[in-house]
Amino acid sequence: MPFSLDQVVPWGRSWDEYLRMFAIDDRDLQRKILGCADGPAAFQAEANKRGVSVISCDPLYAFSAAEIESRIDACFETVLQQTERNQDGFIWNDAIPNVAQLGHTRREAMQTFLADFPAGKQEGRYIAAELPDLPFPADAFDLALCSHFLFLYDSLGVDFHVRSARSLLAVAQEVRIFPLLQLDRQRSPFVDVVTAAVQADGHHAEVIEVDYEFQKGASQMLRLTRAG
Ligand SMILES: C[S@@+](CC[C@H](N)C(=O)[O-])C[C@H]1O[C@@H](n2cnc3c(N)ncnc32)[C@H](O)[C@@H]1O
Repeated sequence: MPFSLDQVVPWGRSWDEYLRMFAIDDRDLQRKILGCADGPAAFQAEANKRGVSVISCDPLYAFSAAEIESRIDACFETVLQQTERNQDGFIWNDAIPNVAQLGHTRREAMQTFLADFPAGKQEGRYIAAELPDLPFPADAFDLALCSHFLFLYDSLGVDFHVRSARSLLAVAQEVRIFPLLQLDRQRSPFVDVVTAAVQADGHHAEVIEVDYEFQKGASQMLRLTRAG
């Protein structure tokens, strides 16, 4: 099915959340990074400010900043109301103590994205592209990150997941995917299937505990490393 703006719920995380979700250290920040399904997250904009080499790709980037902003505005309150109704599913702490602060943090991240997007698109930092196939040459990146897309939506199906993992591993030496849970907070059954497929290709796969947990139980990433 072609990607359409009215089906996406734009929701973007902050630079700090990306660092923690993916256990990114100073050495990683020296690497060529692909942010796949970055959407309206602040990761690209903040990386660019810091001189970190990141290309972000997402089908959302086919649209203009104004179109994305109006879709953010249309969805924002609904997402917060849903979160309010499901508060028990999240871990509230000093950084995000309540739903109001969550709204503020997400809005700030998305504003950072929107302010950077027009220039970043011209500079080729935001690329309109979508899994399961990516338009990048083999080995274009050292590290590919995928936050809150793969494993989250079981409707994408098993073939989509395996093909996407292979595509990511073709363009980057290492791939990190977070979280491993579906929207209903159950562990995705595709984690084990993707792990087995990647291992059968001769590559390495491991589940790693990270220092980030907002959605209860979502504190692990899958790390895939290409052999050779
Ligand atoms: C929940 S958002 C996550 C945004 C960001 N990664 C974060 O964690 O803040 C999911 C993103 O996946 C993108 N997306 C949808 N279909 C995609 C596809 N086939 N390939 C890559 N990204 C896709 C959406 O446009 C959306 O921006």
